[in-house]
Amino acid sequence: MLVLGIETSCDETGVALYDTGAGLLGHTLYSQVAMHAEYGGVVPELASRDHVRRLLPLTRSLLENCARRLTDIDAIAYTQGPGLAGALLVGAAVAASLAYALKVPVAGLHHLEGHLLSPLLASPAPRFPFVALLVSGGHTQLMRVDGVGDYQLLGETVDDAAGEAFDKTAKLLGLPYPGGPALAQLAQSGNPKRFKLPRPMLASGDLNFSFSGLKTAVLTLVRGADPDNDAKADIAASFQQAIVEVLVAKSVSAVAGEGLDQLVVAGGVGANTALREALSKKAQRSGFAVFYPPQDLCTDNGAMIAFAGALRLKGGAPAGTGFTVRARWELDELRTVSIA
Ligand code: KG4
Ligand code: ZN
Repeated sequence: MLVLGIETSCDETGVALYDTGAGLLGHTLYSQVAMHAEYGGVVPELASRDHVRRLLPLTRSLLENCARRLTDIDAIAYTQGPGLAGALLVGAAVAASLAYALKVPVAGLHHLEGHLLSPLLASPAPRFPFVALLVSGGHTQLMRVDGVGDYQLLGETVDDAAGEAFDKTAKLLGLPYPGGPALAQLAQSGNPKRFKLPRPMLASGDLNFSFSGLKTAVLTLVRGADPDNDAKADIAASFQQAIVEVLVAKSVSAVAGEGLDQLVVAGGVGANTALREALSKKAQRSGFAVFYPPQDLCTDNGAMIAFAGALRLKGGAPAGTGFTVRARWELDELRTVSIA
């Protein structure tokens, strides 16, 4: 079965072809980062309009690169939510119309399910059940994953997401949008021990997170004394270290608490090298295995949607015509709500 995946939930237009026999045939991505950088963040209306411009040409070039025709497509999966409503509608409309014209099934997917299952595209791949740490721009969650569609929330952020904290802190340090990767790069030359930043909720006894206080602590530092470049690097490194420490500690508790021996890390912040190094070290010591998606599939992409769609459609998940989008949508609702 050849599945076309379409991702348009935010500022990346992603398309991919996944074949249930041959695996991922190809994926293509157009990032709107340069367009939004001028405004210091994503402008939803501009994002929607750009998806309209990019999606069909991108799909055509994907098919060409993979030496496939439109009529080879057996099913279509698109991101139904959560995300920006207008941006989601572009992917949903194209997916539904194409599916109607080709007379193939169409499935609306949860964006985080795409992230969550993307480590299964790597080799070696984890096996169910596992604990997943989802760290993106909009979410920070620990989930127990027992199978496709069987997700149980163990803990989540009570305020900012990890990626959001990276982005907001980067802004405070005068770094360009998107802040996460820029802050991580600056942190490489900094001293993570110079500034004592809080480790929010480290000892809270549950698996929840809080990151907004950390951003405020950085704001206090920046306001206190206009930092020079060295101090900025040290702040970046100290901030990154604090976030990484909390993410690692809670992930370890989740794996131990569930009595499992595999941790899967997904979402944009999963690309962070300091987090990967700290997690791998801790995992080795604690005797569990840690899995990541391939590096280019950490941030938003069409491949994870094509892949999750293939798993869903293979499992006989209901797929209908017509379309809806869900700008807000909790992942553990998937247990009770059909995805069609
Ligand atoms: O999963 P994603 O591409 O989009 C969402 O679904 O939100 O995640 C984007 C987030 C942004 O906040 C970005 O700053 C962060 O992931 N990010 C990083 C790194 N790469 C991306 N944060 C820290 N270090 C990185 N290397
Ligand atoms: Zn994402």
